Amino acid sequence: MLFPDFRARRLREKSAFRKMIQETVLTVNDLILPLFAIEGKGIKNPIPSMPGHFQFTCDYLVSVVKDAYDLGIPAVMLFGLPDKKDPLGTRAYASDGIVQKAVKAVKEAVPDMAVLTDVCLCQYTDHGHCGMVENGKIDNDVSLDLLAATALSHAKAGADMVAPSDMMDGRVGEIRQTLDEEGFSNIPIMSYAVKYASAYYGPFRQAADSKPQFGDRRSYQMDPANSLEAIREATMDIEEGADIIMVKPALSYLDIIHRLRDEIDLPLAAYSVSGEYAMIKAAELMGWIDGIKVVMETLLSIKRAGADMILTYSAMDAAKELNNK
Ligand code: PBG
Ligand code: ZN
Repeated sequence: MLFPDFRARRLREKSAFRKMIQETVLTVNDLILPLFAIEGKGIKNPIPSMPGHFQFTCDYLVSVVKDAYDLGIPAVMLFGLPDKKDPLGTRAYASDGIVQKAVKAVKEAVPDMAVLTDVCLCQYTDHGHCGMVENGKIDNDVSLDLLAATALSHAKAGADMVAPSDMMDGRVGEIRQTLDEEGFSNIPIMSYAVKYASAYYGPFRQAADSKPQFGDRRSYQMDPANSLEAIREATMDIEEGADIIMVKPALSYLDIIHRLRDEIDLPLAAYSVSGEYAMIKAAELMGWIDGIKVVMETLLSIKRAGADMILTYSAMDAAKELNNK
């Protein structure tokens, strides 16, 4: 039907009609808040490139998680900054490591908050790579044991779900097998399956002190030019036992989210990364955009593309906005 018989505006005029025909709905249930934990007490270091975000000692971390819980946010993703780094990233899988302590503290204080942990080595290795370095190269196979040990130590500390972000081949299978053998067959794996080598991670690397000390991550993270490869990566991780597939970053990769939503039948997560947050914050602070409106539109677009859940540094702001509606 064509104008004037058909008028698209008929259903846009009244607020009630707009609500009735809304195809995509964002709720607080969709949000996962990433947080950074540091050693010590009573410290809250602002992260300059991520205004509103801090590196928290466990005491502060717990109070932020309480606030998030009160806003209805169902899950947090924890990252740790260890007190020391070494070539093997030993503090990543130490039972008294920073993430392990943070998980315990959070689960004790807010038992119903789902605690997800980022499983990787880059914050813990002195070279800043996500896997082991042998002869100047990132060695896939020797990294797997350490990644599995890291995931296991998180589960032992009480993590509700583990999320490997290293992009080594075979790590999901290795982690699944280790968790199963050690009595954690009920702990799901959210795989950062489709993780691109992205410049949008810049602020995070400042926040987590995880910049590679030589080279870059292109030998293990995906080329932003590729989308068939995304299906291959996701398929591989599903076969290895992933429970949730993640695409990261989100905003420049909405086509990938959409495509995977059509091709796979697992829940899909999208990670709206640090650079996405920083760009919106910066423009907001300059007075150039209405920050919260842009945040809500962005999150909605990620959901519309096909994500079931979104990791976002704007989770608190978005939750407040959603609760006030
Ligand atoms: C570590 C990790 C990174 C992010 C999540 N886990 C950084 C990287 O791969 O360099 C990025 C998160 C963000 O930018 O918000 N493997
Ligand atoms: Zn890493």
